[in-house]
Amino acid sequence: MALSRKLKVGMVGGGGPSNFFGGPHRTAILMDNSAELTAGALRSSAAGSIESAREHFFTRGYPDYQTLFTEESKLPEGERIDYVTIVTPNDSHHAIAKAALEAGIAVLCEKPLTITLEESRDLVAATRAAGLPFIVAYTYTGFPMVMLAREMVRGGDIGNIRKVETWYPQGWLAGRTEDLGVQQAEWRVNPSKSGASGCGGDIGTHAYEFIRFVCGLTAREVSGRLTTFVGGRALDDDFTVFARLCNGAIATISASQVTIGAQNDNGFRVIGEKGTIEWSITDHNSLKVLRGGEPVKVFRLGAEYGYFPDSVKPYIRVPSGHPEGFHEALANLHKTIQLQLRAKAGEAGPAAFPHPDVVDGAAGIAFIEAAVASSAAQGAWTAVESVE
Ligand SMILES: NC(=O)c1ccc[n+]([C@@H]2O[C@H](COP(=O)([O-])OP(=O)(O)OC[C@H]3O[C@@H](n4cnc5c(N)ncnc54)[C@H](O)[C@@H]3O)[C@@H](O)[C@H]2O)c1
Repeated sequence: MALSRKLKVGMVGGGGPSNFFGGPHRTAILMDNSAELTAGALRSSAAGSIESAREHFFTRGYPDYQTLFTEESKLPEGERIDYVTIVTPNDSHHAIAKAALEAGIAVLCEKPLTITLEESRDLVAATRAAGLPFIVAYTYTGFPMVMLAREMVRGGDIGNIRKVETWYPQGWLAGRTEDLGVQQAEWRVNPSKSGASGCGGDIGTHAYEFIRFVCGLTAREVSGRLTTFVGGRALDDDFTVFARLCNGAIATISASQVTIGAQNDNGFRVIGEKGTIEWSITDHNSLKVLRGGEPVKVFRLGAEYGYFPDSVKPYIRVPSGHPEGFHEALANLHKTIQLQLRAKAGEAGPAAFPHPDVVDGAAGIAFIEAAVASSAAQGAWTAVESVE
């Protein structure tokens, strides 16, 4: 049955006065007027959850995610939610996503997918069994210039890939931020909430996904050096990994939460036999192509530019020179799951871009687990388990 209506979206997590990432997701969901905030279980306490759903104008608030999925799945198609956005700390992603899939609800889940590879494998199997879309919110893959880079690199513009460099520095954990009442820091430095790697799971996984998303390459082996600079912390606050990729190329994946002054300035450089492609969030509406003996070629974002492939065009909103940014990138991941759901229902429309799915999320966890094991063995080369 064709949908041809606004999609109804659920949200688990993302509520409360000091919450971080629920707000950007709500903005992203509403950006294209193609979806609405329908059902929320936004906090861990029952009363807070319902109150928070009311504050953010969700049509229905629930005391917890179990009740949300049970009650929503009883509603007829057209009234119940079409997909759920999961914005809770990492340790709860598996249980919430599994419950959604079992209730027949598609999922857009925050990264890192889970806190163990076993949980991630379980979600891959559950998604396949349910036959539902599952997007993992690697936000930076939603930037149109990153999508263009993917099309160019995979289309052979710079030839075979020899090396990939990716980076993601932050400085907000350079001191004991977790002692200052900052809830985002409190759970991120706690292994039972965050996972086996703090910095790696939180932002190293974004840097690694550039390699998979843009180049279509995966790490086969890694040599990791995870460091905890700030005293009394149980998890790494710096994550440096050297990788051998599946095509024989090499890669560096560098993430840090103690780079004082750095402001999420992540990016990548892909070095091929015929040229180099570079992107950085510090100039995110540009994509640079470098070739020997030629001036640097700079592609710029703009809806009117004919050089964007048809696969990327539907994801650009304004003419050149008007900046698009972080919220638009996140909205593009919501656009993708919405297009996937519309196509599944037989609705005509643009093709969904292949943004990261549950397998990519699981690959991120396999990479993190290998990096943690390697670092514990003084950087010994360690195989990354395949999840494909
Ligand atoms: N993709 C990105 O760029 C990006 C950016 C920031 C955060 N994140 C991810 O988003 C997730 C949340 O991070 P954050 O910084 O917003 O955390 P946060 O601490 O600000 O918010 C977590 C929220 O989850 C709620 N919560 C906890 N357990 C719950 C449960 N069982 N049911 C319902 N609600 C529950 C809390 O009340 C809180 O509102 C993490 O997985 C993080 O890695 C991703």
